[in-house]
Amino acid sequence: MKQRGYIRLSIVATVSVLVATGALVVTRVELTQAQGLGVGPHLDEIKHDYRRPAAHPVENQALVDLGRGLFFDARISASGKTACATCHFPELGYVVTDAHPRNDSGKPTSRKSQPLIGLGYAGNAPVGWDGRSPTLEAQAKASMATGSMSMRETDTPVKIETIEERVKSAPGYAAKFNAALPGQPIDVDAIALALAAFERTLEPGIAPFDRWIAGNETAISESAKRGFVLFTGKANCAGCHSGWRFTDDQFHDIGTTTTDQGRGREIKDPALNFAFKTPTLRSVALRAPYMHNASIATLTDVVRHYEKGGIDRPSRSPMLVPIQLSERERLDLVAFMETLTEDGPRPSR
Ligand code: HEC
Ligand code: HEC
Repeated sequence: MKQRGYIRLSIVATVSVLVATGALVVTRVELTQAQGLGVGPHLDEIKHDYRRPAAHPVENQALVDLGRGLFFDARISASGKTACATCHFPELGYVVTDAHPRNDSGKPTSRKSQPLIGLGYAGNAPVGWDGRSPTLEAQAKASMATGSMSMRETDTPVKIETIEERVKSAPGYAAKFNAALPGQPIDVDAIALALAAFERTLEPGIAPFDRWIAGNETAISESAKRGFVLFTGKANCAGCHSGWRFTDDQFHDIGTTTTDQGRGREIKDPALNFAFKTPTLRSVALRAPYMHNASIATLTDVVRHYEKGGIDRPSRSPMLVPIQLSERERLDLVAFMETLTEDGPRPSR
């Protein structure tokens, strides 16, 4: 990525110098017309970086199937009323639009939930807006033992052993656990293994953008194409929202109005105060309002936020420099982001 960016810059620089001397004016105009986008032939190179990899093969289908069942089963919560899917709707990319969905204690969560699509490609990236869990397994376990599934914020929390017993005695589960994890006890660790295996299979659906990348020039509008050029160029969005999932899986303070110290509090490093994990932009159009605190209402407002650069404070990313966009460019960026939603039938509950 970095290298391509560099090549791109040097091409632009070279072309500009030549244009300044008048030598290449004609070629430059021809290129522009050929592409219709005001960029040179290197657009194909940039597009190359956004090709989807082949879907990961599933290692243990029985484990994934078990995990899917558990994800939608409220019996793994303390009250028996909350499922993982309560705050992660499949049809929205496994997220909800509520700013603060209610947890199993009946209390609002402190942050918006996160989409789960594409997590199978996130490698060892820490899990959570602030990265407080090292793995998907740890996140699932914490959620049941002490988190949103636990009733910990009430006078009647439920021990994890009670949940384990409930799952063990539920009809059908013993056989499924045995098929997925032969010889292993049915406990919170096994439940977490299954949930995580299921989560790793949540592929972002094929979107118009993918068809464009694959070579179909009519899959997305000219406006969206210009938006992609801005996104990967002048507006520098791809500095963080990189690659086909549109995330670097890193933590940045982008200057939102927040009092939540995020990653900084988690790892006790003030340089990362107000920093949160870069969200994937897959299916982003489905899940307004935006950010960890749902502080930005629409995609257009998000673009306006980046134009100003957000609140200037020591932890703010140096990449958050104010940018100037015309009304058309703003629309183009939004049109581009709207091409990242799958248009086939979406998964449902
Ligand atoms: C009450 C709502 C709620 C329920 C129930 C819930 N979640 Fe979440 N989920 C959230 C919120 C809020 C976040 C963001 C947490 C944070 O960083 O503060 C989140 C974040 C996550 C993440 C992190 C994604 C990432 O990109 O880092 C995963 C994975 C996840 N949840 C899985 C689960 C699983 C598995 C269950 C069931 C065991 C579950 N969730 C139940 C609200 C919920
Ligand atoms: C310095 C890294 C960085 C850059 C550059 C950047 N983003 Fe982001 N983006 C993030 C982070 C981190 C968040 C989540 C911040 C939060 O919740 O506080 C985010 C959130 C978003 C969201 C909300 C997604 C959601 O699910 O809530 C959108 C949309 C978005 N960015 C689009 C853009 C666009 C468009 C640009 C370019 C104009 C851009 N980003 C540039 C890091 C970056």
